[in-house]
Amino acid sequence: MNFSQIKGTVTGNYGDLPNPDNREVAYRAAAEGIVLLKNDGMLPLAPGSVALFGAGAEGTVYCGTGSGYVFTSHPVTVKEGLTSAGFTISTDRWLKKCRENERKTNKKDKTLSLLDRKWSGLSIMAEEPLIGEIDLTEDKTAVYVLRRSCGETADRKPVRGDYYLSEREEMNLKKLADHYHSVILVLNTCVMDLSFVKSMPEIKAILYMGLSGMEGGNAVADIIAGKINPSGKLTDTFAERYEDYPTAGHFADQDNSALRPVYREGIYVGYRYFDSFKVKPLYPFGYGLSYTNFKLETVNVEADWKSITVTVRVENTGTLSGKETVQLYVSSPQGKLHKPYKELKAFEKTECLKPGQDALVKLNIKTTDLSSFCESQSSWIMEAGNYIIRVGNSSVYTTAVATLTLDETVMTKKVNDVLHPEDDIDEIKPETFVNHKAEGVILHLKAKDCVTEDVRNDMDDYLITYIPEGKDYHSLVNENKFKPQFFRKEEVKYVKNCPDSTLLDVKNGDVTMEEFVAGLPPEVLVRICTGTLEETEHKVPDRLRVKLSKLDAPTSSGATTAQYEKSLGIPSALLFDGPGGMHIIGCSATAFPVGMVLAQSWNVSLMEEVGRAMAKDMESFHVSIVLAPGMNIHRDPLGGRNFEYYSEDPFISGQCAAAFTKGVQHDGKRGVAIKHFLGNNQEAERLDGDNQMSVRALRELYLKGFEIAVKEGHPMTVMTSYNKVNGLHTSSNRDLLTSILRNEWGFDGFIMTDWGTNSDKVFDLQAGNDLIMGGYSAEKLISALSFTVPEFNIDGSVNKTIISRHMGMVKSEIDHWGSFVCDRNGTDFQKTVIPAGTIIADEVLKAIHDGVAEAQQDANGQTTVVYRGTDRGTYLALGTLQECTIRILNVLKNSSAMDDLIKRTKYL
Ligand code: BGC
Repeated sequence: MNFSQIKGTVTGNYGDLPNPDNREVAYRAAAEGIVLLKNDGMLPLAPGSVALFGAGAEGTVYCGTGSGYVFTSHPVTVKEGLTSAGFTISTDRWLKKCRENERKTNKKDKTLSLLDRKWSGLSIMAEEPLIGEIDLTEDKTAVYVLRRSCGETADRKPVRGDYYLSEREEMNLKKLADHYHSVILVLNTCVMDLSFVKSMPEIKAILYMGLSGMEGGNAVADIIAGKINPSGKLTDTFAERYEDYPTAGHFADQDNSALRPVYREGIYVGYRYFDSFKVKPLYPFGYGLSYTNFKLETVNVEADWKSITVTVRVENTGTLSGKETVQLYVSSPQGKLHKPYKELKAFEKTECLKPGQDALVKLNIKTTDLSSFCESQSSWIMEAGNYIIRVGNSSVYTTAVATLTLDETVMTKKVNDVLHPEDDIDEIKPETFVNHKAEGVILHLKAKDCVTEDVRNDMDDYLITYIPEGKDYHSLVNENKFKPQFFRKEEVKYVKNCPDSTLLDVKNGDVTMEEFVAGLPPEVLVRICTGTLEETEHKVPDRLRVKLSKLDAPTSSGATTAQYEKSLGIPSALLFDGPGGMHIIGCSATAFPVGMVLAQSWNVSLMEEVGRAMAKDMESFHVSIVLAPGMNIHRDPLGGRNFEYYSEDPFISGQCAAAFTKGVQHDGKRGVAIKHFLGNNQEAERLDGDNQMSVRALRELYLKGFEIAVKEGHPMTVMTSYNKVNGLHTSSNRDLLTSILRNEWGFDGFIMTDWGTNSDKVFDLQAGNDLIMGGYSAEKLISALSFTVPEFNIDGSVNKTIISRHMGMVKSEIDHWGSFVCDRNGTDFQKTVIPAGTIIADEVLKAIHDGVAEAQQDANGQTTVVYRGTDRGTYLALGTLQECTIRILNVLKNSSAMDDLIKRTKYL
């Protein structure tokens, strides 16, 4: 950590924002992302005196916790926002009680560790005080701010005080409803139960502010005051009751299935479920009110096999200026495949329209994006029949404006037949399917004119190892007995010997990347592929012969190795979180609204602007890669990281991620890491949870958003997830990373793991996951390049190295099993002898209990422990390390880290 970080951490004062102008972007993003759910004519409210209650009034939650937490200077609370907007707060007495209670509770707390508080931004969200008669005021209106925090490592729970109101909150709200003429409910939380609103008609307005960043308090207050006309729309469905969600009762740890969740709802997630199963939501996907009214009129529809274009005139028919989002949904014909009632295929937000003003909005769809996934053919297909095009301003308020009629079923794209679940999944489907009658303008598509795209690819069954001319190389992996799942034969290619070259020579075009990498010893390659936090020191001769001034940058989530900056010209790229703003312990950065609120703006150019603003913060902190956007699907409203992710719908998720990516990467210097690829849809058992999903659900929902982001945004990097999908850790799945991500979609950056996964790192590299974060033992990887035996301690346990980081707040263990891995079905053995009189280690006893070891004592009191397992020998090829290194260096050589390195270099 640098000095300002230490100072900030100790004093709690994180300093000034590096880019004060970013506040304005954060404000606009919040203002457009807040959704007006209910308005019985009471908003906007002219500034005056209001009674303000609720723990969120002053304890406004502006972001989530964990890596999504942002240290920032002065996040604006709802109370501050209302005051700046001209309101007088009449309830200071109650608010003070609330504040004091929170302060004392946190002071007394012993449950949160230093790391929880200082790194993850966790604090105790104390229960608010009861509102007594004495706290009530003469005002007509009360504003009640309901808040919840959420974050990494824990899902939310369907219990009071979380998804439901706590008893105290319910009592307080009732008290307000009884006393005040009207109550404005501000939801400073993610999706939660709102069924109580029905029994409290005095709640006349509901504003869903979510966790809307450092300017959230100002934005919500300006909406209340009418300075801003709300234009946010939901990107999730609010159900009438939690039980209405198809995952209720099964999600995360609700029924002990967290280690192997089976996605029985298949493609029916969110509005796809509610529409198709005729379950009425409380507030549907795409919904959000405005203070004005809009009229939508479709003026033209055109279609051919390339694209469908729908032109809509939007007119502001009300009395206030505002923005509207036109949404286009398509209902596909039912056939061999059942289809959701409708799916979002395009959307566009207007500029701010004055009363009476209109604008033409053009919505474009790639025609083959109407395809559904057919598992038996491993293809995208469009079935014969009517495709109804619906235009509206939410998923339920739509009008069928056109029908596209297809004469025969066509196959639009053939893809690799991969990622099967371990067993067939008995997925739910609606009892009845609607086959839609043609409506509106009728257009025809002829099957014979469709050209099938074929993106299947045979993955190479060999890999190339580059060896400098004149050097000998003998492949050990080719003759090794143990063959990993994604084994490829090693083939040697000789390249020019460039022993003195550096990455700068590659950048200048003087040597090729392959020539440079061929000349790097494995000790260097493994450090490039594992990054910082756990690396050990390794010296190489200085090829650059320069003086390098130190970079004064903070430390955070991680970085690629800094060991070879001076010697080989390989820059260290800083990789910092996260989706709502730079997460830098002790340092102030812009806290934008969280991903979910950003998406609720439905404004992709604003998303791009947020990306650009983020790039400014990155530049200030010398960060090359931001570990964002998070873009997993909100499979259930209780997903602990839903706030970081955009939506229950992959189309809007993909569009948002692509726009944000374009913003961050606008000058090609800094990049994003779209994450978590794939299936981090719950936090319970996130390290090992094995999500069983049908290939169709994967293709249509869980992969879809990433596919859009990759094809349209061209992210520099991708982060794999902790969890497994259909039996394999995502980082170890070559079908996922190479067949689909690289070969089908054309991804050409590098892939990194999430921080500290449970996957086998050699398998990760073999799968095409190039960078192991947050660091890994270089020695362990080296041992996989050759046969190494375990190192045992005297008590029979295997030797371990403890690595400590973040000033000792995080520790990790590296064990020294060498090439050997314990396995009760293995056919190899390793033995160690424990001298008489030595206490046998607990872990040896555990291994015996688990059936992977046996122990026998001889007459002299010596115990021989025999471990059963597999000797994997040399199961990592030099070529695999080179391949991963090349992909990492290809990104680094053009990154801001390289520019920084060049600026710091003084030739001697
Ligand atoms: C999270 C990632 C994050 C990483 C680095 C992990 O715990 O899952 O999203 O980017 O930490 O902070």
